[in-house]
Amino acid sequence: MLADKDRIFTNLYGFQPWSLDAARKRGDWDDTKALIARGQDNIIEEIKESGLRGRGGAGFPTGLKWSFMPKESRDGRPSFLVINADESEPGSCKDREIIRHDPNKLIEGALCAGFAMRARAAYIYIRGEYIREAETLQSAIDEAYDAGLIGKNASGSGYDFDVFMHRGAGAYICGEETAMIESLEGKKGQPRLKPPFPAGAGLYGCPTTVNNVESIAVVPTILRRGASWFASFGRENNKGTKLFQISGHVNKPCVVEEALSIPFSELIEKHCGGITGGKDNLLAVIPGGSSVPLVPAEQIWDAPMDFDGLKDLGSGLGTAGVIVMDKSTDIVRAISRLSYFYKHESCGQCTPCREGTGWMWRMMERLRTGDAAIEEIDMLQQVTKQVEGHTICALGDAAAWPIQGLIRHFRPELERRIHEHNAKFAEAAE
Ligand code: NAI
Ligand code: SF4
Repeated sequence: MLADKDRIFTNLYGFQPWSLDAARKRGDWDDTKALIARGQDNIIEEIKESGLRGRGGAGFPTGLKWSFMPKESRDGRPSFLVINADESEPGSCKDREIIRHDPNKLIEGALCAGFAMRARAAYIYIRGEYIREAETLQSAIDEAYDAGLIGKNASGSGYDFDVFMHRGAGAYICGEETAMIESLEGKKGQPRLKPPFPAGAGLYGCPTTVNNVESIAVVPTILRRGASWFASFGRENNKGTKLFQISGHVNKPCVVEEALSIPFSELIEKHCGGITGGKDNLLAVIPGGSSVPLVPAEQIWDAPMDFDGLKDLGSGLGTAGVIVMDKSTDIVRAISRLSYFYKHESCGQCTPCREGTGWMWRMMERLRTGDAAIEEIDMLQQVTKQVEGHTICALGDAAAWPIQGLIRHFRPELERRIHEHNAKFAEAAE
């Protein structure tokens, strides 16, 4: 279990105020000028060495992403940092806790990261539903400006850096980085084709990096404690600490910071008081927020909770939003409900997603009630394959994968429902 001294988010549960004074007592903004004085290349190298991978779900190496930003301005164009606080993935609620209780880690991280990639400003795009969190964040930004920590000559570093907060309006798709950029520009939030990636052409056509809240908030601590300290947690290619968010059928749902690669069993037993009804009552787990396939109980129990460990099980770490389902769960209904979510949130821009998410949800509903033919299970699988990899953004994949996971692991349950429904129908006809 991660020792208290190694936790980055020391005010995760809000036992102390989030205010600047309290944050300073916890070590935030401690000689930030000296961190910046290390220089851009040094900071990027440190983040690369720490092994930090994007905490928003995709796990792309953060230092590498920063290194894609130009060192010289082209045609006088500025560079920007966009921070993705549009946390909308079902099962994910970690960025909310950071903003509620530790917003100064995010703002200081924005300055360090923004400086490293030569950005003139950071735009924090916060989920519209996070009303109180947006109030806290704006107050924390205002306090940081008043104290001279950001703005002109930020923290006395000689570097000018602005931080703006922008509120979303409730569309899940605006969490996709290019849809977020469109939305920030005042347009309808619809993903762009990639490439070009944002580092080439991002906000207002300028070089831009989009990073998740957690990825940015850990940066000052990594710089202060060193890359090797951060890299001492987890295992090769899966380094550092991570906020896990455990919901569903556990005795004590929680958000907790732990070392990556912690076994699922340890996470559940040590932090969540175990599975409701005991270990044998576990049915399945969606380990990374709703966009990754479920993993059945017998496979997840000893699995390391990291990018590679969960990939080996045909799933993923995603945001580490761990959704636990015990045997009381109607697993077909649960996945069908997720299908509805993706159908509802599709931006409608590309045909496989716009049409496919509707098809998949309708077929899932028929499988839920059993009112389907056995062959339709394979037909549904084929539809998911027609959607996966054939869309502009990852929402299409995200809609397909949970269904693929269900068919892979729970086909007998789907067949049982169809047989049961047909038997009832035949009985009624006699
Ligand atoms: P992605 O793999 O396409 O990209 C990840 C990041 O790496 C992006 O910033 C992208 O610009 C960059 N990148 C990737 N390849 C690159 C290249 N060749 N050159 C330069 N930059 C490159 O994944 P995406 O679509 O950004 O995110 C998908 C993930 O987001 C899903 O796995 C899901 O877990 C997660 N997600 C999280 C949500 C949340 O609420 N936090 C909501 C929905 C999805
Ligand atoms: Fe829009 Fe879906 Fe296409 Fe993404 S995959 S661009 S959400 S229609």
